[in-house]
Amino acid sequence: MTTANAIRVLSGIQPTGDIHLGNYLGALKLWVDSQYDAESFYCVVDLHSLTVEFDRDNLARRTLDAVCMLLAVGLDPKHCAIFVQSHIDQHTGLEWLLECVATFGELNRMTQFKDKGAGQESVTVGLFTYPVLMAADILLYDADKVPIGDDQRQHLELARRIASRFNTRFGETFTVPEALIPPVGARVMDLQHPENKMSKSSDSRLGTIFLLDSPDEVTNKLKRSVTDSENTVHYDPERKPGVSNLLEILSAITAERSDVLALRYDSYRRLKQDVAEAIVDTIDPIARRFRELSSDTAYVMDVINEGDERAREIASATLARARESIGLLQR
Ligand code: TRP
Repeated sequence: MTTANAIRVLSGIQPTGDIHLGNYLGALKLWVDSQYDAESFYCVVDLHSLTVEFDRDNLARRTLDAVCMLLAVGLDPKHCAIFVQSHIDQHTGLEWLLECVATFGELNRMTQFKDKGAGQESVTVGLFTYPVLMAADILLYDADKVPIGDDQRQHLELARRIASRFNTRFGETFTVPEALIPPVGARVMDLQHPENKMSKSSDSRLGTIFLLDSPDEVTNKLKRSVTDSENTVHYDPERKPGVSNLLEILSAITAERSDVLALRYDSYRRLKQDVAEAIVDTIDPIARRFRELSSDTAYVMDVINEGDERAREIASATLARARESIGLLQR
């Protein structure tokens, strides 16, 4: 995988519980594809999960589960490095340097901070500086491309600005990364509230397909998915968000265009059946592989150790370079 001059790709995923179809079609599928033609680094961002309320007793298990899930969806440790953010001290080391380059005003404009912080009695400083840690995750590895969901665009834009500003002020130090947004399926919507993104924290579990859902659960969720009263299948996200979402899901799985797929259906029932079947065919092998891996912790820890080692080597060189650029006394 380490071809000289290969593009380097890095992305991160939080170890916060159940991974859903939106994560898979919107991001993970792209990670799997990238590993073959880029030098790829995938990070379980456990430190980011500390920025909101978390469950201390499940933290380590969830990190392992996230790695199992990455392997189950098809990441191959021979083709990419899978590592754990908190195992690489350089992430927080670089974060501080970047915090002294990023401005309060910039962070204050981040919509995710406003959304997650809204209505909370107390908001941690970590939630506020979250995007700077994310910038450190990316810049440490000189990532050229960062596959992310649509909701992370603003954070990536900030990482780019911080990198450029640092380079301008202190000399060329970081690669300025670019976002890699999947062409279709970047936004899988909630099956019950198709105006919202599918998310693990939806108020109705019926709206979200988890990769570990059973075939029956999937079929049931599709049957009950919200459409409209027309019963004609067209791709029209504005007027027909529910139906269009189903078509987009099918499109992301089959790689056929949503409007072309629409022509094949004359009833919502048939469309829902086919979408359910396509989803089950996609997630069932993933769930099986996940269960195998979760009972093989020794193997999963080997994968992590190997990934950590590769990550640490690059991260320590970059942090040393950044410290030098900024003018700190060398050790
Ligand atoms: N903030 C990202 C999310 O919630 C996760 C993340 C952390 C990330 N660090 C990253 C994504 C670095 C890409 C690159 O999805």
